Amino acid sequence: MAQRHTIQSIRDLKTRGEKIAMVTAYDATFARLFDEAGADMLLVGDSLGMVIQGLDSTLPVTMDHMVYHTRAVARGSQKALVVGDMPFMSYQSSIELAMLNAGRLMAEGGAGAVKLEGGERVVPTVKALVDAGIPTMGHLGLTPQSVHTLSGFKVQGRNEKQAARLIEDALLLEDAGAFAIVLETIPLELAKTVSERLSVPTIGIGAGPHCDGQVLVCYDLLGLYDQISPKFVKRFGDLATATREATRAYVQEVKGGAFPADEHSFR
Ligand code: KIV
Repeated sequence: MAQRHTIQSIRDLKTRGEKIAMVTAYDATFARLFDEAGADMLLVGDSLGMVIQGLDSTLPVTMDHMVYHTRAVARGSQKALVVGDMPFMSYQSSIELAMLNAGRLMAEGGAGAVKLEGGERVVPTVKALVDAGIPTMGHLGLTPQSVHTLSGFKVQGRNEKQAARLIEDALLLEDAGAFAIVLETIPLELAKTVSERLSVPTIGIGAGPHCDGQVLVCYDLLGLYDQISPKFVKRFGDLATATREATRAYVQEVKGGAFPADEHSFR
């Protein structure tokens, strides 16, 4: 049985100067494939609201949804560290609620860590979770659960005041015990500064090449989600076209009577 990544082995990657590859996963089959392909961490992101549930934000995603998908990803993978995302309103109202919900992701979902969004405001929560033995990842910059406060999906940290705030938040999260921090949609210079100032790894998405690792939503990476494509997305495959072509061929063969053939039938 392969040894699963731990928060220590993820931190060691930064120490050794080896980049960290993280990808989102929502089910056991993709989790197994990403694991076999060498992903260091699998993030069961609340982005599942958009790519799995067809919503236009992550806000309606619930704890039950997250536990269900986290359990599937944990079952499908062997080596990657599985990080379960804390959905909107599962940790904002009190530390007690955050503990209860993070505990569910670990105990019921089989996650090895949790992730939550925010800076200074969530620092006491991060500290409490870490003290309770729950490895916690931070998330700064464009935090999708605050899309309405941020007035849309825009680049963050572009002015000096915002940049200084983000650096301060990152240092506070590290002090509180966060084992890594996602930096989403911020200028690459700012991501470079944060990555150099922190001893824990930064994981970038739309934050340039100087982060200690990268994360992409798997449906973007695979070219399955081909409706909107933010500038920072690179499609490493075109599974949308492959899926349409395979399904078209299936439909034609069913309608033409070519499938199922003799070899697919029992006598
Ligand atoms: O929910 C998610 O997939 C995320 C990543 C985009 C970082 O939070």
